[in-house]
Amino acid sequence: MCGIVGYVGPKSTVDVLIGGLRRLEYRGYDSAGVSVVANGHLETRKKAGKLGNLESEITNHPLPIAHIGIGHTRWATHGAPTDQNAHPHLGGPTSKLSLIHNGIIENFAELKAEAIAHGAKFASETDSEVAAHLIAIEYERNGDLIESFSTVVNRLHGAFTILVVHEDQPDVVLAARRNAPLVVGLGDGENFLGSDVAAFVEHTKRAISVGQDEIVILRTDGVELRHFDGTPATHEEFTVDWDASAASKGGWSSFMAKEIADQPQAVADTLMGRLDSDGLITLPELFEDFPVADMKSIDRIIIVACGTASYAGDVTKYAIEKWARVPVQVELSHEFRYRSPIVTPNTLVVAISQSGETMDTLMAIRYARELGAKVLAICNTQGATLARESNATIYTHAGPEVAVASTKALTAQITAGYLLALTLGSARGALTTAEAARLGKELLKLPAKVQDVLATAKQAEELGTKMAGAKSVLFLGRNVGYPIAMEGALKLKEIAYIHAEGFAAGELKHGPIALIEEGQPVIVIVPSPDDEDSLHPKVISNIQEIRARGAKVIAIAQEGDKTVADYAEHVLYVPQSDPIMAAVLDVIPLQGFALALATALGLDVDQPRNLAKSVTVE
Ligand code: M6R
Repeated sequence: MCGIVGYVGPKSTVDVLIGGLRRLEYRGYDSAGVSVVANGHLETRKKAGKLGNLESEITNHPLPIAHIGIGHTRWATHGAPTDQNAHPHLGGPTSKLSLIHNGIIENFAELKAEAIAHGAKFASETDSEVAAHLIAIEYERNGDLIESFSTVVNRLHGAFTILVVHEDQPDVVLAARRNAPLVVGLGDGENFLGSDVAAFVEHTKRAISVGQDEIVILRTDGVELRHFDGTPATHEEFTVDWDASAASKGGWSSFMAKEIADQPQAVADTLMGRLDSDGLITLPELFEDFPVADMKSIDRIIIVACGTASYAGDVTKYAIEKWARVPVQVELSHEFRYRSPIVTPNTLVVAISQSGETMDTLMAIRYARELGAKVLAICNTQGATLARESNATIYTHAGPEVAVASTKALTAQITAGYLLALTLGSARGALTTAEAARLGKELLKLPAKVQDVLATAKQAEELGTKMAGAKSVLFLGRNVGYPIAMEGALKLKEIAYIHAEGFAAGELKHGPIALIEEGQPVIVIVPSPDDEDSLHPKVISNIQEIRARGAKVIAIAQEGDKTVADYAEHVLYVPQSDPIMAAVLDVIPLQGFALALATALGLDVDQPRNLAKSVTVE
């Protein structure tokens, strides 16, 4: 889950690398480092801690003007986050080769013994350093850097993206990819490598996604791709539709604050071009690969995802079962992969991921495809491995999400889930054209309603600030309110380090109610009282049960709910909406609450401890 960047071209390499690392820092921030080759010499700077430490190191020990280099930001796996374990790692007796790595080299112990037998001296505890030494040893033997690189990467087991520069070959960056992300940025007289397009989007929007087991030979005047066996590889170029400014804070106190505020646009952009003004859906990216006949033959849907994306999956399940009448199960990707799931050719597997690089989800879809299922991705990142390895992709257009805590990606994923559910419902005849159009028109109103929720976000923030001393916060909901309750709890855990749990409100009396004691804060998602199947009375009963035991209740309720205020200490109102679509509105006060609470505690909300945004190891 580290971030990597490579550059060759006329610009100041240090500036390009540091700029790229800043945009990739969300992938890991335990340490950072760069190597450049200038005037025939390799120069490296690396430092434990956040990127700012590396920048200070470079200010104190400036690097020469260079036109080729590599940079890395680390999320530690093997070895503590120290200066020594920071990448790049140098290889060979004269340390002329520099290497960065994202992933895990599983057979590093046996390879390390071999390198030591050849005289290699290890300076770190990482698994990565072994590759630097082996390539250098091989190069000393045969004098051909590309061949040496290729020989060694073919011997590595596990997951890796590796980039190498060598002071004897100052015009080339070599890269290899297996089970870890790598994208090439194509410039004019300059070329880039990155873990994702954010690494270079401010310089070029032309990109190529590198395939599994491929090598990249990057020079100023061209990019060559080869398979690990040496045969040529080709991939279509694509245009990145992210605006570079979208990946900067733009005056906000944090990326998370900005990304919460981006949500009306993220939802609108995810709907754009997919719903006409009559509420009818066109999803060409879906129909090309899943003709209506295929959609009719699906007898079960399995949604695989992790973390926040899995809660988007839970909401999507409610939407698909209600509107399309297909049974849906939602599975954490890592649980799905390592049991014996029942998958048939009529099973559709839907994988949801912001990054499209979450290793658990990639392993799940690979397994699903082996078992004969078709895979549909809901993904936010163009060129991501998930999109490349799925039969079809519905892109969410949330733009780059930098804060580790996912916010706008979630609301965009749920929106895409609604589009999928309505598409399936229409194709399978579970919805009449009139019903589908009515729901489609409701969907079109969502961006404005999200904007309205944000306009009243102050209240959620005030509550969050006031509750900064809380030791534990519980969240309750029913139906789509249940996954939203779990998401509210996850936000609080990950950025405020506070114990928090989300429960199905109906489950409370089966055990968790024992947790309630005098003053326990409980946030309850209250559904609309107006819906004909409304669960409103049941949720109000649940509130009464916990209040009778001393809970302090904060309700998230729909405008016009006349009764809820009698049962809660505080009520935060969101606009009225379709009960399934309420999920997108209800989650926003929970995001604002967590953000305010963590900020009041003085925590770094964008880079919470122990986490990285893209979890590219299993
Ligand atoms: O990139 P993905 O959507 O696949 O990431 C999945 C989870 O790792 C992610 O949602 C994580 O739970 C977030 N940090 C939650 O805010």
